[in-house]
Amino acid sequence: MCGIVGYLGPKNPKDVIMTGLKALEYRGYDSAGVAILHEGKFKRVRAEGKLGNLSEKLASEPFSGHLGIGHTRWATHGKPSERNAHPHSVGSVSLVHNGIIENYVELRQELVREGAVFESETDSELVAHLVDRQLAKTPNLLDAVLQVLPRLQGAYAIVVVNEKQPDTMVAFKNGPPLIVGVGDDAMYVASDIQALVNYTRRIVYLDDGEVVEVKGPSYKVFSAAGQPLQKKVNEVNWTSEVANKGGFSHFMLKEIFEQPRAVAQAIQPHINLAKNSVELNGVGFDVNDVFRDIERVFVVACGTSYYAGLIGEYMIERLARVPVEVDIASEFRYRHPVLPKNSLFISISQSGETADTLAAVRLAKQAGVKVLSICNVRSSSIDREADGHLYMNAGAEVGVASTKAFSATLALLNLLSLALAKAQGQSTIEEEQKLVRQLLAAPSQIEICLNLDKFFKEAADKLKNYRGFLYLGRGVHYPIALEGALKLKELAYMHAEGYAAGEMKHGPLALIDKDMAVVMMVPHDELFEKSLSNLEEAKARGGQIISIGTGHNPRLEEISEHYLSLPEVDWFTLPLLEVVPVQLLAFHVASSLGHDVDQPRNLAKSVTVE
Ligand code: M6R
Repeated sequence: MCGIVGYLGPKNPKDVIMTGLKALEYRGYDSAGVAILHEGKFKRVRAEGKLGNLSEKLASEPFSGHLGIGHTRWATHGKPSERNAHPHSVGSVSLVHNGIIENYVELRQELVREGAVFESETDSELVAHLVDRQLAKTPNLLDAVLQVLPRLQGAYAIVVVNEKQPDTMVAFKNGPPLIVGVGDDAMYVASDIQALVNYTRRIVYLDDGEVVEVKGPSYKVFSAAGQPLQKKVNEVNWTSEVANKGGFSHFMLKEIFEQPRAVAQAIQPHINLAKNSVELNGVGFDVNDVFRDIERVFVVACGTSYYAGLIGEYMIERLARVPVEVDIASEFRYRHPVLPKNSLFISISQSGETADTLAAVRLAKQAGVKVLSICNVRSSSIDREADGHLYMNAGAEVGVASTKAFSATLALLNLLSLALAKAQGQSTIEEEQKLVRQLLAAPSQIEICLNLDKFFKEAADKLKNYRGFLYLGRGVHYPIALEGALKLKELAYMHAEGYAAGEMKHGPLALIDKDMAVVMMVPHDELFEKSLSNLEEAKARGGQIISIGTGHNPRLEEISEHYLSLPEVDWFTLPLLEVVPVQLLAFHVASSLGHDVDQPRNLAKSVTVE
């Protein structure tokens, strides 16, 4: 989390840095700040809260220099405040940091013993102290950084500048992403490409343990031991995905409405329309060859991506008959997992930067297992490290709450389960064609579900008064219950829980009374009667029932406070439809409570620390 930018060149650094920070604000919005050279000194301007507050403060600030750094913060150590905002400045040194210095307690105590005075509660400030002290012994910024590096434990991407070297910036990383942008007469560093695409498309990806020294319009990359390294300059063909709400009140609402297109774009490269068959194209390895021998699948992800993975488990096991384990990345990486050789490891990540998912990918690679990444952001860290790639093609997702990336992922998992089933000899051509036709129909069925927007807009004022929400589902619909609860928690800040409906009697039923809303997925399938019984039990205890089912269903309508009818499709693509009402519910309840739906409190779009 946190976004960092550095600029050295002839343009006005304020403009370049603020443009970059705007593109990086999804990484955190607790505070923002810049340090830019002005008349030989770094002028530091910082503001608590969103970037707009910093923009206001900067409006009338002149800067005469051509070197500057900027930061948008997601607080780890120290509360969100101007005092804790980056850049941190000590002596002639200013720096911005994304990450966590894990040995900060020891280092800080040591520095305090030596007389250092800290002005913030952050772990980042101590790095500025260390570099400043080192500069007294080794006056060159690069040399000082190389001396300080071995002392730092944890995750960091740092850009540091020194007033005494107004033509130099040094950046280094271990964990969080950091890229170098190579311009014709200027140099840039940033957390991601979007921050730089307005200025350059020539990008160098720094690897962990690397240090870049930017001097004038050129740069050199070194190992942590100071050995010069040759790095490839990548020409990226990204265009600037200028954040625009396209007439919607919020990015999230726009992204919910973009789901039909997101699903269509995700599946389009991989479907042979003449045969109605799946052909996973451009993956990066021979899919049939690899999939034929797979004996076990691991799916690892966080948050919403993890819930998509859970749905993938149902699909893959049911169609391909290959055992699947789905794990939360932060658990997987530390649980000493057993990864047999003939396993396929699937990582799911919209951003491609989630620290725990990235660490899990590395663990799988070390175990010699093929890694297939499902990702939205091309050239992100996970995308670059994986052996194979399936792209969501969902376009930029700006709202912190993931919506269209979830749907695009589900559609890719639909395809992947069919491809695996085919390679394993578990499916017939007819079955594949039937399910492909069903998937092709999903975008227009999602369109129909979007009409529920009006219902939730009107119902939100009432719904927001419930004390809590229990989301229930069975089978592929259970992860939708989990996703619905997560959406409500992160946007409306209300208590919500997702449960497997069959588990109700094992505890959660005790929560139910007249102030509790029960949102249940009740498709008309083989488990319909069982789900209906669960609903009756909740209703008997006073729960307010909101049921999400398929088609016209008088029994459900009768026991529900609200019955929401979805098109009648079966299990394979139904989660793509069911997720729409739970997204809309969370969006409208949060809006009616007056919350910032696109940037909910305490969260960030890209979680680059564990
Ligand atoms: O970028 P990723 O898909 O790896 O992100 C994973 C989670 O951080 C993310 O899905 C998070 O749970 C969302 N805020 C949920 O809406």
